[in-house]
Amino acid sequence: MNQKNDIAVQVSGLAKNYGAVQALRGVDLTIGAGEYFVLLGPSGGGKTTLLRLLGGFIRPTAGQILLHGRDVSEQPPNRRPTSMVFQSFALFPHMTVAQNVGYGLRLRRLPKAEIAARVDAMLEMVGLKDLADRMPHALSGGQQQRVQLGRSLVLEADILLLDEPLAALDAKLRKDMCLELKHLQEQIGITFVHVTHNQEEAMTVADNMAIIADGVLVETGTAQDLYENPQARFTADFIGENNIFDGRVSGLTGSGVEIDLGFAKFTVDAQGQTPRVSDMVSVSIRSELVRVLGPGEAPEALLQTVPATYGEAVYLGLATSHVAKLANGDNIVARHVSRGGTSDDFEAEAPLTYAWPRTQMRLHLS
Ligand SMILES: Nc1ncnc2c1ncn2[C@@H]1O[C@H](COP(=O)(O)OP(=O)(O)O)[C@@H](O)[C@H]1O
Ligand SMILES: [Mg+2]
Repeated sequence: MNQKNDIAVQVSGLAKNYGAVQALRGVDLTIGAGEYFVLLGPSGGGKTTLLRLLGGFIRPTAGQILLHGRDVSEQPPNRRPTSMVFQSFALFPHMTVAQNVGYGLRLRRLPKAEIAARVDAMLEMVGLKDLADRMPHALSGGQQQRVQLGRSLVLEADILLLDEPLAALDAKLRKDMCLELKHLQEQIGITFVHVTHNQEEAMTVADNMAIIADGVLVETGTAQDLYENPQARFTADFIGENNIFDGRVSGLTGSGVEIDLGFAKFTVDAQGQTPRVSDMVSVSIRSELVRVLGPGEAPEALLQTVPATYGEAVYLGLATSHVAKLANGDNIVARHVSRGGTSDDFEAEAPLTYAWPRTQMRLHLS
């Protein structure tokens, strides 16, 4: 059932207040059918609220929800083409794995033979065939999560809603389960809407994602779009490790924008945007694109350089972060790939030059 050309979710002006708390402030969002879509953002941003609105567990304060073209804004969960995987596993402790998976089908009073067949197929799909008769207390976290998934997927809804489905798993298991979820979704072809605050998890599974913070949809795009070309300053700050410089537009020349940072002036390409002189804007550069020049090393012509006072090295395994102070007191970070014993070694307090390709700087108007 692959419906990539169809639209699964269309939300407009969606808002939710809990008393005085504006959990969601007028969100517009479109999710294509058959997409693996991720809602990513910091805790408290409104992700769970949006997911629960899609599932019909809470009612919107304002706005409209269309699922596969049908207005479901006033419909209860069981009248929607959705199924929800909750954050806590919440399995029935007195039922076996197979009974847990078949629970929703029994509620629907399907014939016993059909239930057995569908449960069997689902256990196979989520890799629990050998554990059908186990009780939940005798399962690992990852296995319990599979039961949860099976229990939701067996209902054959068109849209699966997953709220932090991997949050309770340890880091290694989370990585493995991420890929399993991705492959499962590709295999079944239904729409997944997956909520997480974990960037790596989001990037692993998402065809497309939306950044949600403070009740607002900040930006949508593929993982690569948002990592390499974030439009919003917030996205640059939230995804990856970016150096962000705030300043004021001090001049416009052709497609070049001159930005006065106080301690330095950068010129960046407008990137199709239309800033005006004296606008407050930001420029960002990913830390893995920044390099510390060795003493006496002359910068190449295409590099943006800035003087900095070296602070310390932070060894992170794959990379080492070299942290220094700029003239305005802000930190700047250059991430070099770690190279065993020959790692770059700089003296604390040394005056150094940090440099990066001019063309890799992004301009953020908001
Ligand atoms: N039932 C509720 N009553 C009051 N405030 C709530 C309720 N649920 C969520 N909130 C508030 O709404 C905001 C968004 O919460 P939530 O959607 O759970 O965020 P997220 O899932 O992104 O962490 C937060 O400020 C949270 O405290
Ligand atoms: Mg949440």
